[in-house]
Amino acid sequence: MLKNKKIAVYVTGGIAVYKVCDLVRKFIKAGADVKVAMTASATEFVTPLTFQVLSKNDVYLDTFDEKVSSEVAHIHLADWCDLAVVAPATANIIAKMANGIADDFVSTALLATTAPIFIAPAMNQHMFENPATVRNLTTLQVDGRMIIEPNTGFLAEGYVGKGRLPEPDEILAFIEAGLLEQQIDLPLSTKKVIITAGGTKERIDPVRFITNDSSGKMGYSLAKSASLLGADVTLISTTSNLPLPVNVTRVIVESSQEMEQAVLERFATSDIVIMAAAVSDYRPIQEAKEKIKKTESLLTLELEKTTDILATLGKMKDHQLLIGFAAETTNLAEYAKGKLAKKKADMIVANDVSKSNAGFNSDTNEVTIFTNDQEPIHVSVRSKDLIADEILQVALSKIKK
Ligand SMILES: Cc1cc2nc3c(=O)[nH]c(=O)nc-3n(C[C@H](O)[C@H](O)[C@H](O)COP(=O)(O)O)c2cc1C
Repeated sequence: MLKNKKIAVYVTGGIAVYKVCDLVRKFIKAGADVKVAMTASATEFVTPLTFQVLSKNDVYLDTFDEKVSSEVAHIHLADWCDLAVVAPATANIIAKMANGIADDFVSTALLATTAPIFIAPAMNQHMFENPATVRNLTTLQVDGRMIIEPNTGFLAEGYVGKGRLPEPDEILAFIEAGLLEQQIDLPLSTKKVIITAGGTKERIDPVRFITNDSSGKMGYSLAKSASLLGADVTLISTTSNLPLPVNVTRVIVESSQEMEQAVLERFATSDIVIMAAAVSDYRPIQEAKEKIKKTESLLTLELEKTTDILATLGKMKDHQLLIGFAAETTNLAEYAKGKLAKKKADMIVANDVSKSNAGFNSDTNEVTIFTNDQEPIHVSVRSKDLIADEILQVALSKIKK
């Protein structure tokens, strides 16, 4: 969603400036082009050099320091950006913005900005609750600015209160959701998408189970990506410890049987189904009602095959686009092509799980996408969010036909 977006980040003088360094990094990682402007107070906390290096652009500081003779810097930045983010936003800049004051670079450029403006206030709780700040924030909201609510937590002053700058990931998610709300005609806005994530757990007894190394990260990235393309996304997951992407409905399941049931219940009304979960191939024939006691030196577990959910869906599908994953350690292409035909899938995303920077548990992945009517598409190693974007682009090209 932030790929190729031009973001102007306005940094003002609060203790939370350090968190915005990471926020800028995350914008860059998401593929955005970032330019930073700082107030004089902000430079007391972090040097402009830090933001210059992180953003790979000069930092704007002074309204009258006009470096390029053909342009006026504050107007140029205001016109250049697709969105502006004020973080951390001091009580002072909030007051100035609410009243149209333009007495330094940051406030002047913000007054000239017509792009969406996100404001992340961060301050002492009493400053935040002061009627003047409350009034100013209400004015800004009425003016159409998007306010990112501060968190309650331990403040720099040494006590708990409301006023903490949210974590960079939370700010990022808020901005993405905010931009989404402003968009219409997104490519998947009329589509229902089911995505499965995580490794299933097959119970042996009440305290033991068979599972695998899948973290669910790829499924969550796909859910985020599909949601940002406007889809109505249901994530059927075995894990609940990853942040839920905005506008995604999550259904928590445990076993392959529960996952199968949750998918089948929703399959008929879905448009795209992405089976990113690592579903166990076998499960114990019987789950012991009580914890199995340590008695004999050898214990034999009898296992039976679980239902192949992808193949089941392949037989049932009419209009749905069906996408499966192949996690292999050898002969990747051969297995993936075989799976494509045998399971009647439309796409198979194959990854080599023996590589340390791909597959299970890793934050990055490297995949090859196999389809029925195209040469395999190799996507080199990158974050799972970016891999998810690529997979959905291929999916989009298939449903457009
Ligand atoms: C150590 C320290 C921490 C501060 N933290 C904050 C803060 O978190 N939020 C805030 O609104 N002001 C904070 N201030 C006060 C602002 O820096 C001050 O109001 C300043 O005039 C803001 O200028 P600016 O809005 O141009 O950046 C802090 C000041 C100091 C000395």
